[in-house]
Amino acid sequence: MTTPINTNISRKKLVLGITGGIAAYKAAELVRLLVKAEIDVQVVMTSAACQFITPVTMQALSGKPVFIDMWDNSSGNGMPHIELSRNADAILVAPASADFMAKLVQGRADDLLSTLCLARDCPLLVAPAMNKQMWEAPATQRNIAQLKADGSTILGPESGVQACGETGLGRMLEPEALLAQINSHFTPKLLANKRVLITAGATIEKIDPVRAITNLSSGKMGYAIAQAAADMGAEVTLVSGATSLATPHNVTHISATSAESMYLAVMKNIAALTFGPKDIFISVAAVADYSPAQTSTQKIKKSEQTLTIALKKNKDILADVASLPNAPFCVGFAAESENLLEYAEAKRLAKKLPLIVANLATNAMGSDDNQVTLLDKNGVHTLDSAPKIQVAREIMQHTAKLLSQT
Ligand code: CTP
Repeated sequence: MTTPINTNISRKKLVLGITGGIAAYKAAELVRLLVKAEIDVQVVMTSAACQFITPVTMQALSGKPVFIDMWDNSSGNGMPHIELSRNADAILVAPASADFMAKLVQGRADDLLSTLCLARDCPLLVAPAMNKQMWEAPATQRNIAQLKADGSTILGPESGVQACGETGLGRMLEPEALLAQINSHFTPKLLANKRVLITAGATIEKIDPVRAITNLSSGKMGYAIAQAAADMGAEVTLVSGATSLATPHNVTHISATSAESMYLAVMKNIAALTFGPKDIFISVAAVADYSPAQTSTQKIKKSEQTLTIALKKNKDILADVASLPNAPFCVGFAAESENLLEYAEAKRLAKKLPLIVANLATNAMGSDDNQVTLLDKNGVHTLDSAPKIQVAREIMQHTAKLLSQT
């Protein structure tokens, strides 16, 4: 039975408010990332922000006219502050200057952005950016405390070298970090109070000090799963093989580059965290099935025309976890080059998994997109080809649904 899964995650509407500060230049990159993440972005700028970056840039990146003026009557009802805040799922002010935060605290409404913040019926997220003395000033700290008390979410700031040349707290979060926070904000917390352990990436099995057997896994799918699970409110540990990817936000990273060290790291964490049937183990890593029977301590010199390296079979991490007493809910991956569904279902049954994700290795490895099929006891569910983060969200939604039925 093939049941299609609806992969259309409804597009969230975000008003991005930009205020006057040098960090306004980072808002351009933020808009680009938000648009790429399929978030519907409406930019609103203060007149001070226009001194730092032009509305034309923001319009080109967001693909929409930018609102600046309170008296602009191009919005439907001639009341842009009502129209914009009525449609928004959230307002993000990034960068938020010290002056703008003071305005928010006082409930002032003397320009379009402050007015629509006051007139809103949706969450307000504020990403402060200012010089460290301004950040540390008692007035700013009072305002931050009041904004939090009023229910706003403060994102950052972070510490680092500032435009004024000083070093300290006050830098706006980087666009990637803000995107991660927004994605997390918009994601329903279907995995709250759940613990998720994930393996990802390729393993490296050493032959000698300079040579190894590895594979072409980039780790992108496993890292996307880790991000999706964290966004859904889970406590996520990622045991990662070789990859150059940055650890997703709110994810604990453990490095384990060989099949054996990955096995040990997984078993240690499952025992230490006392994983039970309501926790989740997702095995995305491309674990080497074999590794050299012996690793030479010295570099092997070339001599004969042929060289034979004896290989020994590695333990199957997923199969061993799934057969633990009190095993967590186990999700496997099957990367095949032929007979995809037949091989994947055989693996699911052999390893006693409630769910396996099947994909063609040739399409998936290294790519930013993936097309997968989910196999569980109810049948086969085909997902559309999509960016790996979107596929990861669908896989985690399906996992959460199956887990809730156990
Ligand atoms: N896996 C594992 N430990 C191994 C080998 C595989 O945990 N030593 C996991 C993978 O992370 C994946 C699943 O098992 O979730 C299937 O891996 P795959 O390599 O496709 O299948 P194998 O069982 O190794 O079979 P084959 O290589 O013959 O296709």
